[in-house]
Formats: sequence, C-alpha cells, structure tokens
Amino acid sequence: MKFTVITIFPEYFAPLSLSLIGKAIEKEALEFETIDLRKFAPGNRRSVDDTPYGGGAGMVMSPEPWGDAIDEVLSKNEGVLDLVFPTPAGSVFNQRTAESLSTSNHLVFACGRYEGIDARVVDFYRAHLRIRLHEISIGDYVINGGEGAALVTIEAVARLIPGVIGNPDSLLEESHNEIGEVEYPVYTKPAIWRGLAVPDVLLSGNHGAIQNWRRDAARKRKGAQNGRE
Ligand code: ADE
Repeated sequence: MKFTVITIFPEYFAPLSLSLIGKAIEKEALEFETIDLRKFAPGNRRSVDDTPYGGGAGMVMSPEPWGDAIDEVLSKNEGVLDLVFPTPAGSVFNQRTAESLSTSNHLVFACGRYEGIDARVVDFYRAHLRIRLHEISIGDYVINGGEGAALVTIEAVARLIPGVIGNPDSLLEESHNEIGEVEYPVYTKPAIWRGLAVPDVLLSGNHGAIQNWRRDAARKRKGAQNGRE
C-alpha cells in the first residue's frame, strides 16, 4: 500500500520512520511520501490561504494549490485512489473505518490548516472517477490541522497491512472484538507487585477458564467505560 500526504508541514510525519511502520517502509511493505503544498503556491510568499468570503475569523486555504497538488498525484499514479480529508466535520474514525481503508492500494491525505480548505475542493474531487473521497474526524474535538489526524489514521491503517506487525496473532485477537469489546487487562511478571496479585486464573494453565475470564473482564471494562460517558 502507498501513502501520500499533502501538507504544509512535511516534517510532521517524521515519527513514521520509527518503530514498526518505519521498518515496514524500509522493507517496502509500505510506501510513504509527503508532498509540500507550498510547492504549488504562487508568488514569492508562497501563500496558501486567504480571507473567507462572507467575513469571519481566520483564514481559508485557497483551492488552486490544492487542485494542482491533487492533480499531480493523479497524474503520477494509476488507477483509483482513496482521498482522505481529515476534518472535525467528517464521520468519526473507528476500527471499521481503518479496516475498510486498509483494502486501498493508495491512500492520499489532504491536510488542511487554519479554518479549513475552500469547500469546492471536496465538491470537485468527490465527482472524480478515479477518486473515492472520505471526510474523516478522529473525534469530537478540534486540533490545529489535519496532520495529527492523518498520523493517527495512517498508524491505525498501516498496522493492518500484512507484514507490518511482527506478530499477526495480535490482529486476530482484535478481530474477535468486532462487537466493540475493548481488550482484556494484561499482566506480566512479577506475580505480586506492591501487594497487588495477578488474578489466580491466569496462573492456572486452564486455557478455557482463561478465555472466559478474559471475555468477562473485557466486557466489564467496556461497561465501566460506558458508565463514564
Ligand atoms: N482537524 C482539526 N480537528 C480535527 C479532527 N478532530 N479530526 C480530523 N481532522 C481535524
């Protein structure tokens, strides 16, 4: 799978060179590139934004550099691609979204800043035959730009690609969680730490009993979480 990120802050994505995703990029299980939006901005100032029509606070990202940058991605790549606009107004991202995006050959992120991107950009590319367009929010809060949301989305999607996670069994266990159970609590040595003991059943060697305990503990955790909302 290939990831392309269009952004005014390419350095924001440096953390992707760490850990399992970095290794996957190195061994070419994943391809990753950033495109600097300012390359497509006119004039010496390389400005990518302007004041909003109708007035109001803040700045809006101009459509021209976005159109030119996305057109370049289309011209340099073949076939259908998934174009993701991270926005707090999008549909809320979850594990099902990650699974669905992980079937893509090419995920392209358009990271807006300021008050957002001129709305005609989404309207234009939604109608494009080679694009499946997604507007995605990582939660009901506002961060300073799409970059943080793109990082979260990339990490959630990339770890589902074969060859990225060292132990694919950890994905299998998660896939049992489709009904929305959170995972069970986990323990390692020592068996007693600061007077707190690991649950006896986990030391019993009884796999059936362990499975039942983990299922119940995951449900209890989920119940406690909902109670907090
Ligand atoms: N940009 C700003 N806030 C965001 C959010 N919550 N999700 C996705 N993109 C964003």
